[in-house]
Amino acid sequence: MTTTRVLTGITTSGTPHLGNYVGAIRPTVRASRLSGVESFYFLADYHALIKVGDPARVQRSTLEIAATWLACGLNAEHVTFYRQSDVPEIPELTWFLTCVTGKGVLNRAHAYKASVDKNTAAGEEPDAGVTAGLFMYPVLMGADILMFNAHQVPVGRDQIQHIEMARDMAASFNHLYGEHFTPPQAVIEEHVATLPGLDGRKMSKSYDNTIPLFTPQAHLRKLIMGIVTDSKAPGEPKSTEGSALFQLYQAFASAEETAAFAQAYAQGIAWGEAKQQVFERLDQEIAPMREVYEQLMKDPSAIEATLKRGANKARGIATPFMAQLRHAVGLRPLNTSAGGKSKTDKTAVSSFKQYRGDDGKFYFKLLDPKGGLLLESTAYEHPKEAAQAIQSLQQQGATALETLKNRLILKAETALVLSALGSFSQP
Ligand code: TRP
Repeated sequence: MTTTRVLTGITTSGTPHLGNYVGAIRPTVRASRLSGVESFYFLADYHALIKVGDPARVQRSTLEIAATWLACGLNAEHVTFYRQSDVPEIPELTWFLTCVTGKGVLNRAHAYKASVDKNTAAGEEPDAGVTAGLFMYPVLMGADILMFNAHQVPVGRDQIQHIEMARDMAASFNHLYGEHFTPPQAVIEEHVATLPGLDGRKMSKSYDNTIPLFTPQAHLRKLIMGIVTDSKAPGEPKSTEGSALFQLYQAFASAEETAAFAQAYAQGIAWGEAKQQVFERLDQEIAPMREVYEQLMKDPSAIEATLKRGANKARGIATPFMAQLRHAVGLRPLNTSAGGKSKTDKTAVSSFKQYRGDDGKFYFKLLDPKGGLLLESTAYEHPKEAAQAIQSLQQQGATALETLKNRLILKAETALVLSALGSFSQP
């Protein structure tokens, strides 16, 4: 039973628009329903601090984005849906990764380089106005991904380099401290359209040409009526090619509907009429979700509770994993046996792996340094309980093995299991 772990983050710096919906939210929610995948979706609010200096906007955007994902059908009980800043292990891992990332690698990050190039072209100091946060962006993102050992990371093209950097960080860390991280893979949605905005250019916050996904119905209509078209009169045949209106329709309609709409273009449909049809088709899909969204926005405490549950689930993995990583780098209790691995003794650590079974319940196993199975847990309802069991095994060794014996299945000699447990900490 191997499940693929899929993880992606959304920076909480704005209000979701139709381009986000078609390009990211809709395909991701659909993918989260596939079996054999374990999905992690999070609100990247630490990332938002890099660009946004307005606290009210960060909070508002976090609420809007969370409500949007839920309104679009994300099942928060089925996936792990959390807020980055609720998982303190992420900034801690960021530091570990910072210490294995070449500064020169970060110098070459596209976003940072673009700022430097812009400054240079303007005759400014290369780093003028560049915060260390912007510079460190890829490391924080690497920690997001490696914290959960995600296999696949669905992102836009502009993020591919960041995933490559995360792979490098994983490799450097593993090289120094043993195999802890799985190298992640970027997944690019080739077939989803980039949506044009009001002015015909790609819909993007930076062009200020967006249509907010859950703007009230009347405003949605008004915005669609304002989309640029050519000046062809009613009755004149119109070209679908390069028509922003047509592309927008296509992103929401079936193949048959789209063919009929193309037919209407050829027959010279008036722009006003075409716009009305686009509005109606979009609103047909959006209206039911908008209703849910409006309800959710009225009850921020329910969303807060959902995110807190998600954070608990995420920390059920992050907390024991971070304990393992702290041990691996040498941040250990001082009374831990000096058997503590030196740098040259690279991979000799036992490890706990926590996972979710096909039954939706939570399990863990203990592996010896070569990956051999030492023990397995029975099912836990909550990841937190599983994490607590791991923690007591790590801290109390034999005592915990005894107390937990009804919940564990030994897969090797007790002596071997005990010796592995002893490598975490010794009383
Ligand atoms: N950088 C991503 C963006 O702006 C957001 C993000 C933060 C992310 N951490 C991530 C995406 C981890 C995927 C995985 O779109």
